[in-house]
Amino acid sequence: MTSVFKIFDVDNDIKEIRNAADILRNGGLVVFPTETVYGLGANALDSNAVSNIFKAKGRPQDNPLIVHISDISDLYDLTLEIPDRARLLAEKFWPGPLTMIFRKSESVPYVVSAGLDTVAVRMPSNEIARAIIRESGVPVAAPSANLSGSPSPTEFRHAYSDMNGRVDAIIESYPSEVGVESTVISMVTDKPLLLRPGKITKSDIESVIGEIEVDKAVTSQLEEGIKAVSPGMKYKHYSPKANVTIVLCDESEFVKFTAEHYSDGVFALCFDHDPIDIPCVRYGSEDDDLAQAKRLFSALRELDELGAKQVYARCPRTDGVGLAVYNRLLRAAGFEVIEL
Ligand code: TXA
Ligand code: MG
Repeated sequence: MTSVFKIFDVDNDIKEIRNAADILRNGGLVVFPTETVYGLGANALDSNAVSNIFKAKGRPQDNPLIVHISDISDLYDLTLEIPDRARLLAEKFWPGPLTMIFRKSESVPYVVSAGLDTVAVRMPSNEIARAIIRESGVPVAAPSANLSGSPSPTEFRHAYSDMNGRVDAIIESYPSEVGVESTVISMVTDKPLLLRPGKITKSDIESVIGEIEVDKAVTSQLEEGIKAVSPGMKYKHYSPKANVTIVLCDESEFVKFTAEHYSDGVFALCFDHDPIDIPCVRYGSEDDDLAQAKRLFSALRELDELGAKQVYARCPRTDGVGLAVYNRLLRAAGFEVIEL
């Protein structure tokens, strides 16, 4: 049985926060809101509880989880060392949508890190998330609360439809403000390495610690046989049931292309003001990368609800937060891109 707890206010809904925290402390699974996407949490120090996350999602065992904390002091027990650059990034961006990878301590079970000697940690800015973690008294391992391979849930109803019956409790709360998952950066390499782009951009990070590198897998498909630094980036991800194809072109070419390729079940995934003549779902305006990030995953789910079979998607700009939007869309498309 899955309970649903409504939590919209950290001060008023304290009873529900305590209920959720008790479940986590006692080894159960709780879906909770964060500023990026809804997460599927378990006590990170309890191997059994963490294995249940993999079962509930149908997630491959070799894909490690992010550990969520409510206070910077929680970092010490999880890590062997905290590089100075990481301290600077934590001061600037925590709480917030930045995940940093450290050398892990013995307290972090290998099921969390999928056998790696590193651990990914983030302190969410969503106050409900932090209150639940704080109240539970344990660090909380949490992937996005979708079935493995589906788009990440940015609204309660998405998380509910994927996780009802698979977890102990689901928190009903507001839609996620950011809409794409956190930026992931490895702090264990010589030069910090950006593994997954997010709202906190490469230049946001570089303005604090100087030059960083971007992993090739962010914008290209890993070749057969190459080992992923961040295992999550190698899977076909975020996919609706429809086949998605990115079409690289300008607005007028896209309007023409979609009209020419229209048949039953074909949809366009386009920007707010594109003058599209076929059935379409829109994901923000062309020059607003934050709006695109917030909309993308719910737009992908909407396409499924509408019964789309083939989706032609307009490509976002790839600078700023656009890089995160492009990275997710590229995976939803299984790297299928047509250049006109
Ligand atoms: O915004 C987010 O980060 C959301 C919310 C719930 O916090 N969580 C999330 O988790 O997106 P998940 O599991 O869907 O994605 C975690 C990513 C994966 O790509 C995984 O491979 C990578 O982080 N990762 C985790 N631990 C790692 C490690 N030790 N080394 C390299 N990559 C790691
Ligand atoms: Mg995920």
